[in-house]
Amino acid sequence: MADPTIPILDMRGVSKTYLSKGRATEALRGANLTVRRGEFVCLLGASGCGKSTLLRIAAGFEAPTGGEALMWDKPIPGPGPSRGMVFQDYGLFPWLTVRDNIGFGPQSRGRPAAEVRETVERYIALVGLQAFADAHPHQLSGGMKQRVAIARVLANEAEVVLMDEPFGALDAMTRERLQDELLDLWARTGLTVLFVTHAIEEAIFLADRVVMMSPGPGRIEAVHGIDLPRRRDVSSPAFNDLRRMLAAQLHSHHAPKAA
Ligand SMILES: Nc1ncnc2c1ncn2[C@@H]1O[C@H](COP(=O)(O)OP(=O)(O)OP(=O)(O)O)[C@@H](O)[C@H]1O
Ligand SMILES: [Mg+2]
Repeated sequence: MADPTIPILDMRGVSKTYLSKGRATEALRGANLTVRRGEFVCLLGASGCGKSTLLRIAAGFEAPTGGEALMWDKPIPGPGPSRGMVFQDYGLFPWLTVRDNIGFGPQSRGRPAAEVRETVERYIALVGLQAFADAHPHQLSGGMKQRVAIARVLANEAEVVLMDEPFGALDAMTRERLQDELLDLWARTGLTVLFVTHAIEEAIFLADRVVMMSPGPGRIEAVHGIDLPRRRDVSSPAFNDLRRMLAAQLHSHHAPKAA
């Protein structure tokens, strides 16, 4: 068992410079972030500030060009099932049913068939898709597809769920419902979530801590603890104060440069 006193994710001075077509882009400079088990952390910032880059480094899709990215105190060696990624465009296999999409991970890792079946049914129930178990992704709404994507990551025994603007393509009502469902899942399972968004309200509604990033090069500018009781009231004065404060910080990154 991993030692729960050790941070589950630990980014120490993480930098990333991409080289493509002879050009270097400094996407991330010196990011320090510690995520403890069971935390819900949101990365918030304008386009291009390195949110996806930081998430992809945590996933193991990218290696840092400077600093260290650790999970349970060990360098992240590459992608692995303990860090499941959920994308805005779902990333489901279109030729598989809901059931087979969710079972794909445990099955390909050689879990016994009976165990896979049990796991799949448990997670289908957890995300409320029993009636759609035999449907294919094209038969589902966006919200349902995102539930399948979340169930698939959980069925694969993810300890950390990495979500890159997962609700960005959904209409406002579906998005709000999925935010509630995600918080409910998080509370019931003790998952650790690292969630990218550029929506201030979404970050305040969801997170224990909001990590404000700024561009040019991407940096972590501030980390704000959100200690409002859940379920959070988006119309409360305290919520509004946070919204104003974060908006001012976010928009300061777009301030026109003095001539
Ligand atoms: N594979 C890549 N090759 C070259 N440059 C890249 C690559 N991926 C990202 N970048 C650059 O790195 C910077 C940070 O990109 P990143 O995708 O991490 O930002 P982001 O905060 O997720 O933005 P968005 O909100 O638009 O998704 C940008 O300038 C981007 O153009
Ligand atoms: Mg991004």
